[in-house]
Amino acid sequence: MNKENSINNFNWSYATALESSDHIKLQERYELFINGKFVKPLSKKYYETQNPASGKKIANIALAGELDVNAAVNGARQAYNKTWKKMPAKERAVYLFRIARMIQERAREFAVIESLDTGKPIRESRDFDIPLAANHFFYYAGWADKLDYAFPNRKVNSLGVVGQIIPWNFPLLMAAWKIAPALACGNTVVLKPAETTPLTALKLAEIIRDCGLPPGVVNIITGFGQTGAALVNHPDVNKIAFTGSTEVGKLIQHATAGTNKKLSLELGGKAAHIVFADAAINQAVEGIVNGIFFNQGHVCCAGSRLFVQETIADELISKLKFRMESLLVGDPMDKNTDIGAINNKVQLDKINEFIKTGIAEGIEVHQSSCDLPKKGLYCKPTLFIGVAQSNRLVQEEIFGPVLTIQTFRTIEEVIEKANNTNYGLSAGVWTDKGAKILQLSAKLKAGVVWANTYNKFDPASPFGGFKESGFGREGGVHGLIPYLNF
Ligand code: NAI
Ligand code: MG
Repeated sequence: MNKENSINNFNWSYATALESSDHIKLQERYELFINGKFVKPLSKKYYETQNPASGKKIANIALAGELDVNAAVNGARQAYNKTWKKMPAKERAVYLFRIARMIQERAREFAVIESLDTGKPIRESRDFDIPLAANHFFYYAGWADKLDYAFPNRKVNSLGVVGQIIPWNFPLLMAAWKIAPALACGNTVVLKPAETTPLTALKLAEIIRDCGLPPGVVNIITGFGQTGAALVNHPDVNKIAFTGSTEVGKLIQHATAGTNKKLSLELGGKAAHIVFADAAINQAVEGIVNGIFFNQGHVCCAGSRLFVQETIADELISKLKFRMESLLVGDPMDKNTDIGAINNKVQLDKINEFIKTGIAEGIEVHQSSCDLPKKGLYCKPTLFIGVAQSNRLVQEEIFGPVLTIQTFRTIEEVIEKANNTNYGLSAGVWTDKGAKILQLSAKLKAGVVWANTYNKFDPASPFGGFKESGFGREGGVHGLIPYLNF
């Protein structure tokens, strides 16, 4: 039996195990959360958010116009001056603890809503996004009254009103990464979630209201890029924190240049995932799968460029193809699903365009043989093997389940290839030799280097990029710095 046959003859079927959404109560319409209350938009406009797995509308969402942004920023300013700035730090911590506990109490509801709105597998929102979001609030609650210990012999102060703009790939988690350190440092917040994934941020607004946080300390406004731009350009905002595309990051950097606004950016990535011949190959295959197919590849730190040492390339690629056959692509609400729906049509078109170009250029391509669901936005896990360093597929962020594979012979060669990119967010290394790990972690220009693992996160560990991946760190003590004046 040749390898191809052994792949196709294997039976990977599982009975479906759907997560119930009976306990979820969603409203038909969601308003803006300003000054501790849900209020109708002054713009009088609404738009739809949809479930990417079914194409069905989930709810109508308020579209914040300039007047609404202004109301939110004013609310945040008043709350800053009247209550939050003056409140003893240990009291601020109590609110953060409360938010963390309330996310935990409602974790199942949050996980289901996150999967409905994003298309990500329920297993991932349940085991990764929601618990980690709660942990960020717990972690920064601990720092709120210890800022003097975090930065000994330096007097630190809050900034004032912070505008935060987040993307659609980890909606609640990104909200937590942004809100928790900002509040711990004594700032007030106006947060704008991504247009396609506003629901968990609005659910978080319910928690923020119910936990008794003083009105206006956190405001959540929904809308598209124009709403984000109005927040960036508002004269009474002291700082902007942005996670999203490099393109919009550059626009924001232009808009804030020459103003007094502080800025931190977490942008795209094109991570090198490097496997040496001495690595534990089976574990490396799991790491590769986790690194690029996890969350449909909608991950800024996705291990999207695989570099494998030449002597093991054939073995590793054949094992990877075999493993890909067992990945279940389909309904995000099924607990067996590994790869869910692509979040939005624009993104799916972008990924398909990359795949089409690669195929047209004659690059060796491999896709798993699975059938995609008839309805909804889906993409097969895809490999491009033997791609040139200069190829678009290697240079540009695809943000989907697409992996390019290149080989290398020496450590010097792979360092040069890995660093030959405009990005520098993360990297992964698989080897049996500690010395190689230390050498690479010093020489790879990436904010995070994972060794013999991939996509591991902890609130205590800082995350952020080099070059066009942005600047400023989130997580850890470092994550306090962007929210303080020194
Ligand atoms: P985007 O950068 O346009 O959107 C991110 C956030 O910025 C959203 O909340 C959006 O409403 C807001 N925004 C858009 N234009 C703005 C402006 N002019 N001023 C202020 N805020 C603005 O990302 P998009 O269009 O959803 O995705 C495009 C590409 O970006 C993806 O294909 C992917 O390559 C990359 N991306 C990277 C992410 C990351 O985590 N680093 C997350 C999402 C996308
Ligand atoms: Mg955009």
